[in-house]
Amino acid sequence: MAAALSGCGLVSAPQSMLNPAGPVARDQLNLIYSSMWVMVLVFVVVAGALLVILLRFRWKGQKELPPQWEGSTRLELLWTIVPFILLALLAVGTVRDSFVLAAPSGKNVLRVNVVGHQYWWAFSYPGTNIVTANELHIPVGQKVELVLTSADVIHAFWVPRLGGKTALVPGRTNIMWIEASQPGLYRGQCAEFCGTGHADMRLLVDAQTPAKFAQWEQEMEHPVVQPTTALAKEGEQLFATESCSSCHTIGGTRYAGVVGPNLTNLAQRPMIAGNLLPNTPQNLAAWLKDPQAVKPGALMPNLHLSPDKIKALVAFLESLKTPAPTGSV
Ligand code: CUA
Repeated sequence: MAAALSGCGLVSAPQSMLNPAGPVARDQLNLIYSSMWVMVLVFVVVAGALLVILLRFRWKGQKELPPQWEGSTRLELLWTIVPFILLALLAVGTVRDSFVLAAPSGKNVLRVNVVGHQYWWAFSYPGTNIVTANELHIPVGQKVELVLTSADVIHAFWVPRLGGKTALVPGRTNIMWIEASQPGLYRGQCAEFCGTGHADMRLLVDAQTPAKFAQWEQEMEHPVVQPTTALAKEGEQLFATESCSSCHTIGGTRYAGVVGPNLTNLAQRPMIAGNLLPNTPQNLAAWLKDPQAVKPGALMPNLHLSPDKIKALVAFLESLKTPAPTGSV
């Protein structure tokens, strides 16, 4: 038991629902705790009574059967009414939270459309041109309504520290909401088996101060693509000639493929490959060389690029960042 429980530390638990970081996750955890304590109470009373009866009324060598009787109105009423009260208590919290968590209330709600793909996430912000992949940016202290659907099979959106999981089902729309109380990076994970790459279908929620979030929105709305080195410029050409552009969009360029993840301002993202690897030139190169070796089941084809072409493409991709507008936040 000690060995099993040692796996539940909070400090190194970036994906634990026991470590909530926002009101939704906290409400859900409180509901779990309050239900658990009711169940603990029932267990202690029932198991305690059983133990007392077993010890006290043991067979002590009597020859005769003890008096046989059945039916006690008082007892029958007791064990009908007590469970009824306990279930009613459990229902109060469950019903209340079900309504509170069904949809965000109030006016100041940020809406984000989430589409699950094998094996990555697309996030788009209605009313803007912002589309990003695997990295959901939200402002802290604001309710974020997630409108969930899928492009292929059933997935489930789960960022344990911000809220419980909700399925993304092709052909239908599910709603959930999250809110982060503190700035930070929160890890998430697809929670519905969806194929070979399921375990690697991760995501990152970047909760930012409202000022930082507004700046990010600016950078994503008006991305600047200015490869400065000759190598990066060569990479920009290769992006079209090697057919990367038929699947990927890069804001600020003419590249507008929609099959794969949107790569706008890619160099600003901390992680690549569905939040699997830190965004370093080495990892990008490994990814371009053989995507399936990095992430088994990835639908990005191996283009059998030469090392020189990979170098140029990496230089181009690493240049995709939009400098913060001067004079703003
Ligand atoms: Cu998507 Cu599992």
